[in-house]
Amino acid sequence: MTKAYDPLASVQAAGPPGTISFVYGLPDPVTFPADDLRLAFEKTFKEKASLALQYGPEQGYGPLIDYLREKMGRGESLKLERPQITLTSGAAQGLDHICTMLTRPGDPVIVEAPTYHESLKTFRDHGLHAAQIPIDEEGLIVGRLLPILEKLKKRGKRIGFLYLIPSFQNPSGITLSLQRRKAILDVCQAFDLPVVEDDVYCDLIYEGKPLPSLFSLDKKGLVLRLGSFSKIMAPGLRLGWMLASPPLVDVFIQSGLRNMGGGANPLIAIALDFYCRNGLLEPHIKSLQDHYRAKRDIMLRSLEESMPGRVHWTKPSGGFFIWVELPPPLRAADLTAKAKEEKLMFFAGDAFFAESPAGQYLRLAFSYVQPEKIQKGIEKLSRLIKRELLSR
Ligand SMILES: Cc1ncc(COP(=O)(O)O)c(C=O)c1O
Repeated sequence: MTKAYDPLASVQAAGPPGTISFVYGLPDPVTFPADDLRLAFEKTFKEKASLALQYGPEQGYGPLIDYLREKMGRGESLKLERPQITLTSGAAQGLDHICTMLTRPGDPVIVEAPTYHESLKTFRDHGLHAAQIPIDEEGLIVGRLLPILEKLKKRGKRIGFLYLIPSFQNPSGITLSLQRRKAILDVCQAFDLPVVEDDVYCDLIYEGKPLPSLFSLDKKGLVLRLGSFSKIMAPGLRLGWMLASPPLVDVFIQSGLRNMGGGANPLIAIALDFYCRNGLLEPHIKSLQDHYRAKRDIMLRSLEESMPGRVHWTKPSGGFFIWVELPPPLRAADLTAKAKEEKLMFFAGDAFFAESPAGQYLRLAFSYVQPEKIQKGIEKLSRLIKRELLSR
């Protein structure tokens, strides 16, 4: 029998009552601007119903595209022309569409190790082979890129693209340094290799200045940059955008998906345009930065206060995630099972590796868990690690 669809399944999978879960990198529902969105939808139905309920232009709703261009002009000094942007039904759909349009089954793609596990699934869906390159505290180790590209080229392989999450990466929280961004682009330009820049966390920055995107540094039109309303508003909206060179954007606009179904989510796009043009998005992002910074700080402070000396973790300046490295001989998978018995959940890092997993990493998400549970959960985790270290 088919199981009934349960929209809350992932939330319930956060464990039995009383569980503290650091598993889900979901946005915090207390931040969803439901009332302002309701007003924007009311206005949409009142003023633009026939447009909002019709198939939309393939590129997406023009005024929202223009709003996004203005926003990125203000925030990133990025000068975007209309033909460089198209709307997507979220970054996930954008990535899937990139695989459809730019790759063929059997192509290799290059990814960071670790990288977002759901993107790895998308690559598998398309029959792509992900080859991984390790990251350090500055992001992808560029020296490892050239040998892999040369090896694949020698074997006559057509490489799909390099996939990067440069800002506050999921799962590690690490940001790709400016120097590495430039060095990666130099290598990719030499190989004419497309770069997919999945930048869904770039606005959730908690200190310092944002770095220029790979898209803005690219001189050869190789970068496709994915953005999304999921993390800065609500994932249920299923709306995002893709930036690329005009000929590449055109490939997507002219695709079967867009010709058959029209542009992404016209109803949502029109309501979001009303919301954004009311001046609400940028202050909302500012309040999200304060909200998530506070949660991150509680988690970092708790880790500092309770973890034994041999445990290391990243200190992200944005995003949703902290990446913990366990000391040998501890393995994340063993720890996950033991933690569950004590009503504590986190993500063992193995799923985030395309090839041989490293075994000793955990991903802790601070975005979704209630603030008052963070310290208690980290103390539980520290006690568990100390106990396991003593018993070895
Ligand atoms: C790195 C990364 N890319 C893409 C997505 C999905 O974004 P969207 O909701 O816009 O499809 C996520 C969601 O967790 C993510 O972490």
